[in-house]
Amino acid sequence: MVSSEGLVRGIDRTLEYAEYTEPERPISIQIFGGDPDKMAAAAQVVEGMGADIVDVNMGCPVPKIAKHHAGCSLMREPAHAATVIAAMTKAVKIPVTVKMRAGWNDAEKNASTLARMVQDAGAAAVAVHGRTAAQSYSGWADWDLVARIADELTIPVFGSGDCIEPEHVMERLGSGVEGVLVGRGVLRNPWILSQAADLAAGRTPRVVTRAERGQFLLDYVDLLLTERIREPQGFRHTAADLAQVFRPAHPGHARWVINKVRALGSWYTKGLESGSHLRTAINGAESVDHLREIISTFFCAGADFDPSPCAASSF
Ligand SMILES: Cc1cc2nc3c(=O)[nH]c(=O)nc-3n(C[C@H](O)[C@H](O)[C@H](O)COP(=O)(O)O)c2cc1C
Repeated sequence: MVSSEGLVRGIDRTLEYAEYTEPERPISIQIFGGDPDKMAAAAQVVEGMGADIVDVNMGCPVPKIAKHHAGCSLMREPAHAATVIAAMTKAVKIPVTVKMRAGWNDAEKNASTLARMVQDAGAAAVAVHGRTAAQSYSGWADWDLVARIADELTIPVFGSGDCIEPEHVMERLGSGVEGVLVGRGVLRNPWILSQAADLAAGRTPRVVTRAERGQFLLDYVDLLLTERIREPQGFRHTAADLAQVFRPAHPGHARWVINKVRALGSWYTKGLESGSHLRTAINGAESVDHLREIISTFFCAGADFDPSPCAASSF
């Protein structure tokens, strides 16, 4: 989710957020904003970066975004939201899609109306997170509403919300949607999609060992350590006016790596036996080596994990 304003003005940080790598295709870059002309210009920047799809955020409930007539507050002005989509579809050849919530609150649960309006304005697909902005992440997503919208529209409709286990993905795929978006479930269990694919193919979902879970985090640490420091030329697709920036490794980079692993750790440790101990230990990591020790010890030691001594010789 990147700012249309930042893309149009060529703000380096915004352009960096929109970067992607070839193996990630198909690439959909999501933008937020409420001004039709700026959103159209931002869509052209996205298209110029080689993205396959430009998506519009109409679901973000965060006041910082919503107060600028962007994110979920666009749902409160459906005619204006449709104008935004019409301007964008005129400006680019790539598909323009929309991600929305069920509505602003229970009294304004208008996803069905808005979805039809953006379809008429030229949207190629919509995704609906079945919670209102007022709900944020509480309660449950309204999949009856999602299924109804899927039934009403002629363009593909994707559903989102509460697919935490591979079985949930399969169950929701049966609701008439074109596909399911998995959010928090992937952060908890990055294998959920391949496990759902196993179920779809009639196989038993693959079992992920504790060692694999540990290795995943260690690989993540290694990838973060080399990000923008050692990458093959052309690895990163950037905006035309943003040169590929290689930064020298500096002490601040290590802190950034630790913070990124902390952020993932808050999700990744959920549902793991003694996961809260791992979370606390990661949050206290003082260096990248310490972080590696914590991860290796936890995933070797199992439930008896004691983060304090962290003996490197134990793995
Ligand atoms: C950490 C996090 C970041 C998210 N970022 C975005 C975003 O940038 N754009 C968006 O449309 N939705 C975003 N979402 C919402 C998810 O796409 C999804 O609709 C929501 O989490 C409900 O699905 P879930 O129950 O599978 O997590 C985010 C959710 C989480 C938890």
